Amino acid sequence: MAEERDERKDHLWKVSQETENRMEDIDTPGAPVGLDVGTSKIVAAKRRGKSQEIQTANQLNAFIPVPFSKFTQRTLDQNQVSYFHEGDELVIYGSATEKFANMFNADVRRPMADGVLNPREKMAMPVIEAILQDLVPKANVKGEVLAFSVPAAIEGKEAELTYHEATLRAHFEGMGYKAVAINEGLAVIFSELEDENFTGIGISCGGGMCNATLAYLSIPSIMFSINKGGDFIDRSVGSVVNEHATRVKVTKEEGLDLSRAPRDKFEKALRIYYEDLVETLVSALKKSISRAESLPRSDRPLPIVLAGGTAKPKGFKDLFERALKDTSLPIEISGVRMAKDPLSATARGALIAALYEK
Ligand SMILES: Nc1ncnc2c1ncn2[C@@H]1O[C@H](COP(=O)(O)OP(=O)(O)OP(=O)(O)O)[C@@H](O)[C@H]1O
Ligand SMILES: [Mg+2]
Repeated sequence: MAEERDERKDHLWKVSQETENRMEDIDTPGAPVGLDVGTSKIVAAKRRGKSQEIQTANQLNAFIPVPFSKFTQRTLDQNQVSYFHEGDELVIYGSATEKFANMFNADVRRPMADGVLNPREKMAMPVIEAILQDLVPKANVKGEVLAFSVPAAIEGKEAELTYHEATLRAHFEGMGYKAVAINEGLAVIFSELEDENFTGIGISCGGGMCNATLAYLSIPSIMFSINKGGDFIDRSVGSVVNEHATRVKVTKEEGLDLSRAPRDKFEKALRIYYEDLVETLVSALKKSISRAESLPRSDRPLPIVLAGGTAKPKGFKDLFERALKDTSLPIEISGVRMAKDPLSATARGALIAALYEK
């Protein structure tokens, strides 16, 4: 049993590559799928070929409609831009969306907000379905397992999470999959804490929110989320420097370095909202642990793993550690580390959940 698990682990981490290609390119008939349905990105993970290495593919979970014309349509075709025709518009979706938004000096639209499907966005499901069609083929065999990540509910928003999970589940079942939902923080634990027997705290700082889960031996004890993530940073910085959030996002991703002093107003604003996010996250962690009625007793301090795109900039871990130092948590922490690949950790963890479900 232990040998089998070690072998599986070796296979899982042998080689990993990220592509922006369709999942068909990395398709293995009959293999389970792990999916991270995020506010900012959708990431799919699957094991491939004889070596069973994990490969991931991703698409931006965003769209922008442009007026229909035959000419525009031909140009999009020639440039291999993903779109579909809806009424008198062409709806551009996926990874090309941000380029278009910047070109037209507009913001992208999103099927999801704050970690869940946006019930007020009528294009939400058509766009997500189009993105999923590109990323994940229909099940080869009926009942193949697909595990998809879901956030922990924000207090007062439980109903939106139920709608989100049920809508996605119905869609995946329609594609022939046996769909299993996995909490995002737990997916990070599955992906990163196997050597610690899936015991510790997994945190994913994404676009719409941050999710955190504390688990002992893979069993979650605490799950929570805060509705601050990269979008909050982009929106807030955008409003103080008078820029569209989409443009702030692109510039931020080009190389924000939180380990050095900010050099201009833009970097100063980024730091202010990053600090705000980290402080909110750490105080929510303290609050959730403090009010947990009974935590399993652990004889060892717990590790914390940070994942998600918002945790990617250089210096983020230090910022988090500093906030942690200034807070007295009711449990002992052994250390903080980054996920091997912060942007695909959730999808990889979902895949591991799918493999154990098979
Ligand atoms: N290199 C980078 N530097 C800074 N921020 C980045 C970088 N790469 C991605 N991000 C930010 O990370 C966020 C997206 O992260 P991620 O893909 O983990 O989110 P998500 O899973 O789609 O969202 P959520 O989990 O909140 O639903 C965006 O705000 C994006 O701007
Ligand atoms: Mg996420």
